Amino acid sequence: MMTIASNKTLCLAKIVALGLICSVAFFLYFEPPSPFSSFTLADEENYKGMDPNEKPIVLLWFWPLGVKFDFKACFTYFNIDSCVLTDDRALYSKAQGVIFFHKDIDWHLRNMPQAPRPAFQKWIWFHVESPSNTAKTPGLDNLFNLTLSYRRDADITVRNELTIRETEMTDDFVLPKKDKLVCWIVSNKDPATGTAVRERYYHELSKHIKIHIFGAAFTGHRLRYEDYYSTIASCKFYLSFENSIHRDYITEKVNGPLVVGTVPVVLGPPRENYEQFLPPDAFIHINDFPDAKSLADFLLYLDTKDDLYMRYFEWRKFYKAHPHLLSTNNEFIQPICLACDHMSRDRDFHVVHDVYKWFFS
Ligand SMILES: *[C@@H]1O[C@H](CO)[C@@H](O)[C@H](O)[C@H]1NC(C)=O
Repeated sequence: MMTIASNKTLCLAKIVALGLICSVAFFLYFEPPSPFSSFTLADEENYKGMDPNEKPIVLLWFWPLGVKFDFKACFTYFNIDSCVLTDDRALYSKAQGVIFFHKDIDWHLRNMPQAPRPAFQKWIWFHVESPSNTAKTPGLDNLFNLTLSYRRDADITVRNELTIRETEMTDDFVLPKKDKLVCWIVSNKDPATGTAVRERYYHELSKHIKIHIFGAAFTGHRLRYEDYYSTIASCKFYLSFENSIHRDYITEKVNGPLVVGTVPVVLGPPRENYEQFLPPDAFIHINDFPDAKSLADFLLYLDTKDDLYMRYFEWRKFYKAHPHLLSTNNEFIQPICLACDHMSRDRDFHVVHDVYKWFFS
């Protein structure tokens, strides 16, 4: 009895299985209309002519401040070649990413794309100034998908990061020849950009220690770019004073001395913020001292104690600073290349609702 019943069940199972296989084959062969056809159609419309294996197109809508460069620079300087960068607006409807330089956006958005925006396309808000130097152009809510900024919590962060050495450096660091104690290169003293704090500190500090000044702000003539690194290298300390004080706003003013082997004396956000990006003994923070005179005394003291001074270079055994590109012709290259690189990996839906609420917080 048992056997017959089992046989019958087995037989039935075989028929059901066969039927299933047949119907699956039938459906695969004849491709019945999908129940989600309207959704699929809209999607297909957007992806028409796109090969998912192809490099994404990233369109630079404005040349930042009108300054052009050769897109090949991304490969030359940053080894980035993972998207097709273009400034050809005719490719707008095909571009997966469109970069908008904040300062170039018209107050009434008249110079923004007028054509409908494909559903796959991401708009990138590109801004590298601090909040103090940011005009709140209206109408930017719910417009962008990604932020490109120096902020650590931006979708695409652009910073001069120290990198970890693959092997510890065993050769002793050779300090460049120093013939000055404290230097400062400063091209901007427009108080409207927030420079009052650093200027006040500089004036106070200069009462107690000699400061060699370079750059247009006080000397009236610019330091040539080719003299930038060598000038900083010739000083024991360099004033890395930011124009305005904001979280994560720690700029190339700190990177320059770290690259060449000079100790940055920083004025900017609190020490804890710097320590998120740099080893604690790679720099001196003005807040480490009650006043400018105490800082000056400490720098003068370090000038007499080589072993103490050299401790500020210990980090170089383990980490490496990388020269940043100089001049307005070059300063926008890195962020644009990073956006390109990001777009080659990013497949996620993302919306920035209130870009100012984020940026000014
Ligand atoms: C991009 O953002 C806009 C609005 O901010 C949104 O309508 C669109 O669906 C987003 N697209 C993607 C691909 O994230």
